[in-house]
Amino acid sequence: MPAAGGESRFGRYAAGRGASLNALEKAGLQLFRGKGGCNACHIGPNFTDQQFHNTGVAWRDGRLADEGRFAVSGNPRDHSAFKTPTLREIARTAPYMHDGGLATLEDVVEFYSEGGHPNPNLDPEIRPRHFTAEEKRGLAAFL
Ligand code: HEC
Repeated sequence: MPAAGGESRFGRYAAGRGASLNALEKAGLQLFRGKGGCNACHIGPNFTDQQFHNTGVAWRDGRLADEGRFAVSGNPRDHSAFKTPTLREIARTAPYMHDGGLATLEDVVEFYSEGGHPNPNLDPEIRPRHFTAEEKRGLAAFL
């Protein structure tokens, strides 16, 4: 999320105070809310629903590398579910995901474009989005 001081540029834009996102970032915002479906989970002022989801980050080589929330809750729905992180200041907090497995925002966009890592407990909101090269640039710029 583009940020400057206390109030982010996105915050000013959302509040209708000045066109502070450039054309590429605006296209990225549309994808974030539209085709990308990112705001199914990254929602609200901090871009998190505070819930736990399985996006497949912990699914490697056909097995679960980390039980995630399940280790605490014992609820089968929580296998490899992790809490939706905030996306504020996200450009400054690489690497990404709970295991730091994705080095750049471009890697993150690629991960979601392919539909995460399919596994038996994948969240239904995670599916291949098939972003074009232009869309990937826009999303990464918005983030
Ligand atoms: C089903 C809910 C869900 C959807 C939809 C979703 N995310 Fe996420 N996102 C998460 C969760 C949960 C994590 C943490 C995963 C982990 O650490 O294993 C995450 C992590 C991230 C991170 C890394 C944050 C960090 O601090 O490491 C970024 C960036 C991100 N998501 C952007 C996006 C974008 C862009 C989209 C749309 C293309 C999207 N997300 C769609 C739930 C979701």
